[in-house]
Amino acid sequence: MTTVGLDFHITPNPAPAPEARRADILADPGFGKYFTDHMVSVTWTPQQGWHDASLRPYGPISMDPATAVIHYAQSIFEGLKAYRHDDGSIVTFRPEQNAARFQRSAKRLALPELPTQIFVDAIDLLVRTDAAWVPTRAEQSLYLRPFMFASEVFLGVKPASHVSFYVIASPAGAYFAKGLKPVSIWISEEYTRAALGGTGAAKCAGNYAASLVAQQEAIENGCDQVVFLDAVERKWVEELGGMNLYFVHADGRIETPTLTGSILEGVTRDSILTLAADLGHEVVENRIAIDDWRAGVSSGEIVEVFACGTAAVVTPVGKLAWRGGELAMGDGEPGPVTSKIRNALLAIQHGHAEDKHGWLHKVV
Ligand code: COI
Repeated sequence: MTTVGLDFHITPNPAPAPEARRADILADPGFGKYFTDHMVSVTWTPQQGWHDASLRPYGPISMDPATAVIHYAQSIFEGLKAYRHDDGSIVTFRPEQNAARFQRSAKRLALPELPTQIFVDAIDLLVRTDAAWVPTRAEQSLYLRPFMFASEVFLGVKPASHVSFYVIASPAGAYFAKGLKPVSIWISEEYTRAALGGTGAAKCAGNYAASLVAQQEAIENGCDQVVFLDAVERKWVEELGGMNLYFVHADGRIETPTLTGSILEGVTRDSILTLAADLGHEVVENRIAIDDWRAGVSSGEIVEVFACGTAAVVTPVGKLAWRGGELAMGDGEPGPVTSKIRNALLAIQHGHAEDKHGWLHKVV
């Protein structure tokens, strides 16, 4: 992978959000609702490679109705966050990991692989420009959303020869409206998310579209999220569609489903493998049967379950439900191990604990 940098053409927003409006938003940003004053874009064609890099005012993208992405979903994205530290500096968390996964996703979706340096430079430029949008309060951050899509105007089914890369940014509080309260999970028995050879390990738009009907079923059954099982045996726990899962055993052992090729390789998931070991836990990647989840909770062998992802950080699971049954976990509050891991991760990200694995990337 070449690591060429690009010169970004800068057009400042002539009408940025007034300071009072920004302060109002930052007081309670929620998740994914508000966007900063600028965005970055870069174009790719086979002839020119990556070119036409610009930072400009945030605003609508105008598209021909025949733009390929609208029809065939050749589209990938990433999610990472920028954090403001007490000394005023701003950092992102393991951006090179997101860049690498973006390259793997691009490969699977027959999109061009964006060099890591352009990915990181684009994010840094946007965060530096919109630094005033990085929240200062505990547990808040600036959520960054890089994405790439087929922008060629053509209705034939083929890899696009005109591709657009963008980064937008959105101030973020808790992903779930109810904050850190445990979420309930519905087992999807009818729908699967991904099969081996499919796109499950890629962060592509279509995976999320395909998860929505199962998510809708979860909501109809009074649950917050859905858990997907493997597509062949309908037996092995995979992921939630937007988050990975962890299981805490009574003996302190922590388990997460093995990356079989149909599960997204979460950066938070990967960080917790290291962090939980640092905290003295034995950490194992394993195939976990849905019946063992139920039996483990009933017998007291599994004492806590939590979900993890960039947006949701570490979120406790308080209930598992399916057609004909349900099982409560915990006492309605985050369990001690879940809280310990969550706090350890947030402490590194927010600059309150030593970054001994070199995970922070300084932007400002
Ligand atoms: C993330 O955690 O960044 C995700 O991708 C989950 C969701 C917001 C799509």
